[in-house]
Amino acid sequence: MKNLFTFTSLLFALALATTACTKKTDTTSQSSDEILVGEFGSLTGSEATFGQMTNKGIALAVEEINSAGGVNGKKIRVITLDNQGKSEESVSAVTKLITQNKVVAVLGEVASSRSLAAAPIAQQYKVPMISPSSTNPKVTEVGDYIFRVCFIDPFQGTVMAKFAHENLKAKKVAILTDVKSDYSVGLAKFFKETYTKLGGTIVSEQSYSSGDIDFKGQLTNIKTAKADAIFIPGYYTEVGLIARQARQIGIKADLMGGDGWDSSKLSEIGGEAVNGGYFSNHYTSESKEPVVVGFVEKFKKKFGETPDGLAAMGYDAALVLGEALKKAPDLSPQAIRDAVAQTKDFQGVTGKITINGERNAVKPAVVVKVDGTVNRFVTTVNP
Ligand code: PHE
Repeated sequence: MKNLFTFTSLLFALALATTACTKKTDTTSQSSDEILVGEFGSLTGSEATFGQMTNKGIALAVEEINSAGGVNGKKIRVITLDNQGKSEESVSAVTKLITQNKVVAVLGEVASSRSLAAAPIAQQYKVPMISPSSTNPKVTEVGDYIFRVCFIDPFQGTVMAKFAHENLKAKKVAILTDVKSDYSVGLAKFFKETYTKLGGTIVSEQSYSSGDIDFKGQLTNIKTAKADAIFIPGYYTEVGLIARQARQIGIKADLMGGDGWDSSKLSEIGGEAVNGGYFSNHYTSESKEPVVVGFVEKFKKKFGETPDGLAAMGYDAALVLGEALKKAPDLSPQAIRDAVAQTKDFQGVTGKITINGERNAVKPAVVVKVDGTVNRFVTTVNP
């Protein structure tokens, strides 16, 4: 009996040890055959399509990397946390990914304010973070562990300022800025700088806060100022409502914006009112480039929908990280960081990606025109 008891307890102890071991290999990368990568994004909330589409792009890229043999034999596993589109939740998500899940790198976020909230955590723990699509310059200024694979807003602002001046021939522009968003404030400023340098006049500067639903006051001021075009560097939920209310009060001016307009929900919210609006973006699914055609096909097959710019950026961010993981001599944060920093001429779906000394990518932008749920390609602008 005593022996049996000892034997049972031994088995029990063994079982415990094995569980502990499994747990351990499950959450740390080095000792397992998996490499854990963290992702944080707005899977819910008023920018949910940003997080969801980025997530799909990342999933497709990781699936491709893994089925082609993974990273030197190890499979990448992505742990995704929803921040509900909130900055505070971004801080806790990234803290958890790094301290509990022990991820080797973090992918995220889309919205600059949320990348800015989380970047100091990644920097503090020295875990490389790659934002797929945050364009505000301050994001990568947080520190040497913070990267992005997209262009930045001084460029995006110039693209739309030139477009307003040269293509739309707008002489008077009004700007409607979301003061709660680092992205919106920055892009408004960069647009204004170039547009006024080109000789255009800003006739009205109005503001709102993310989450607002009534923009009639600001729009009435803009109407009085007789703007030829209105620049709205916001996110799709508010932009859709703004466009609707602008048309309701009889504003006929051209509506323009930046990448924050990119969502299948824009036309759902804005209806007819957003049609004919122009915005700058990272990619167009209408491109005939073989890499884009191939990507759109694979994405449609897997998810049954056309990938937007967010999906393309998520895909590219994950591929850039995958390449860096393959090239890094080991999986230490320093080695991964250095490998990401050395990214050069990587052919992504959104263009050739070279990470510069400021840890940003320098790439062309496209301008598209809203036509229902389709964003028609208008022009490409090189840096
Ligand atoms: N560039 C935006 C930001 O920095 C995010 C965004 C990217 C939104 C691409 C839509 C498409 O906040």
